[in-house]
Parts: sequence; structure tokens; C-alpha cells
Amino acid sequence: MSELIHRPRRLRRTAALREMTRETRLDPANLIYPLFVCAGEGVRREIKSMPGVFNLSIDELVKECEGARRGGVSSIIIFGLPESKDEKGSGAFAEDGITQRAIRAVKREVKDLIVIADTCLCEYTSHGHCGVIEDGDVANDPTLEILARTAVSQAESGADIIAPSGMMDGMIAAIRAGLDAAGFTHIPILSYAVKYASAFYGPFREAADSAPQFGDRRSYQMDPPNVREALREAELDVEQGADMLMVKPALPYLDVIRAVRERFDLPLAAYQVSGEYAQIKAAGRLGWIDEERVMMESLIAIKRAGADLILTYFARDVINRL
Ligand code: PBG
Repeated sequence: MSELIHRPRRLRRTAALREMTRETRLDPANLIYPLFVCAGEGVRREIKSMPGVFNLSIDELVKECEGARRGGVSSIIIFGLPESKDEKGSGAFAEDGITQRAIRAVKREVKDLIVIADTCLCEYTSHGHCGVIEDGDVANDPTLEILARTAVSQAESGADIIAPSGMMDGMIAAIRAGLDAAGFTHIPILSYAVKYASAFYGPFREAADSAPQFGDRRSYQMDPPNVREALREAELDVEQGADMLMVKPALPYLDVIRAVRERFDLPLAAYQVSGEYAQIKAAGRLGWIDEERVMMESLIAIKRAGADLILTYFARDVINRL
């Protein structure tokens, strides 16, 4: 007779038992699908470093959203690529800007799809930074006003949630005040509260044509070695009225997701960014990993670390599999 009392393997013996005792699950309602919208018609241009992700003109964006919605996707986040850029990113808040037109079209054509607007200036500024430049650096306070204006124009276009990603100090308070003054007290803010200056954003900058033309983003995005600072950033955004928090990137920062989860009760999102996606796709294509299983495992890890919501370029594929 065996002397072992505890045998954890008992509950792993069959697929049904494993399914029954599983602690963490992916739910389609928690996955947010990022999409890139550009000018033109009939445009569906694949991003080289992100196979399966496209720059879409508005008509193609609407088609993609209809398909995604039918497939079970419940929310998207839109990034706009304007036709022209300037010093202060005027295209970000133009009434007929690419993002504003895209939001209107999707809200008009696709039923029951939550549309999140990414609120930042880097896709719209000629220098590629997330704010206006003074003395060679991004000037914080003059940028706040532009961000508030951008958020209001996105809400006017029909955005359901505003997601500021520029890492300016005080951006949540400024945007909240702007939205409230314009009558959008009911529109929630999903703050990219904890966003690191990460090399994992590389492919996105190709996709959104938003690479900085000089310098880098280290004077406003967070220094990767820091985690206490992440809690401080999150706390400031909670105080300023954020409704939801985000940590970004996701997989390389699971400890940060866990730390924010333990300290704050707001819904927490994590962004599986372009470089995380590209790594999995590249190794999958080379046959070095099983792409589908790594995709599922990476997402479940992010959830297990404490994220309620995940922004992922895999959203459509994963929901298909679920
Ligand atoms: C804009 C923004 C970025 C991402 C989301 N919003 C890029 C950046 O900060 O350079 C990155 C997303 C990704 O890599 O998938 N500020």
C-alpha cells in the first residue's frame, strides 16, 4: 500500500477533471481587439512585423468589426493614422479626423460593439512624440489641454470609453474635467496608468507610423526596472478619477500586474503589445514553438497575474478558439 496521502495528480488525470478544477479562464467579454485605421478605400495593408494585423481604411474597418462582432468580440480599441501631421497633433482632435470618422462609422454600422478610443498625440504629431515640444522635450501642461480636447472630440464621435496613453502628469484629471464640461459625465476613462518605455512597442510604431523622430519616450513613459513607481502612478490616476487601470506591456510585467491588482480594486487591464505578438508569430512561423498553445498560455498567464481585461491582437483568434 502507498504511504502517500496527497496526490495532486488525481485531479489532473482527465481533461474533464482538469476543466472542472481550473482556476483561471479566458472570457471573450474580457478581450479587447486593437485596430489600425487609415485613409483611403478598400485598403487592407498587412503590417510586416505583425502578420494578421492590418492598416484598414474605414470601409474595411467596418467589415473587420462586423466579422469580429459576429465571432464574439465585444470591444475594440481604435488607433488612427492621419494623412498629415503637424507640430501639435491637430489631427487628433479634428472633427473630421481619421479616428473621429472611424468611430462614427463603426458605431453607426456595427451593433453592440464597445468602441474604445486611444487618446494620445504621437500618431498625429510630425515629431512623433506624445505631446507638444518645448525646449527639446515634451511639455506636460500645454499637452493636457490638447488631450482633453481630443477626448471630447472622440466622445462626440461616439466613443464608449476614453483611453489616454500619453503618460502626461495630470492627464486623467484634465480629461475628466474636459469630458464632464462637455456633458460626457457618463463616459469612463481607462487609463494607461502604468506604461513603460518599452522596446516591445517596436512593431506598433511601424503599424501606427508613430516612431519619435528624435530622442525617445523615456522622459514620460516609465523606467522598466520600477515597480513601486507603478503603484504611485496608479494611485495618482485613481485620485484623478480613472475608472479602470492598465499595465503595459503585459507578459514581461506580470509582477507589476499582480502588484497593481493587490493594491487597487478598479477593473485592471493589461496590454499584450505588438512586440509580444510579433515574437509569438515569428517563432510560430519558424516552427520553433506551437503558436496557438503559446498564445493561449501567454493570455492565461496575464489573467492569472491579475488582469481582468486584456488588449490583444490575438483577440479574434482566441475567441474563435474558445
Ligand atoms: C501610443 C501607444 C503606443 C502603444 C499603444 N498606444 C505606442 C508607444 O507608446 O510608442 C503601443 C502598443 C503596442 O505596441 O502594441 N502612445
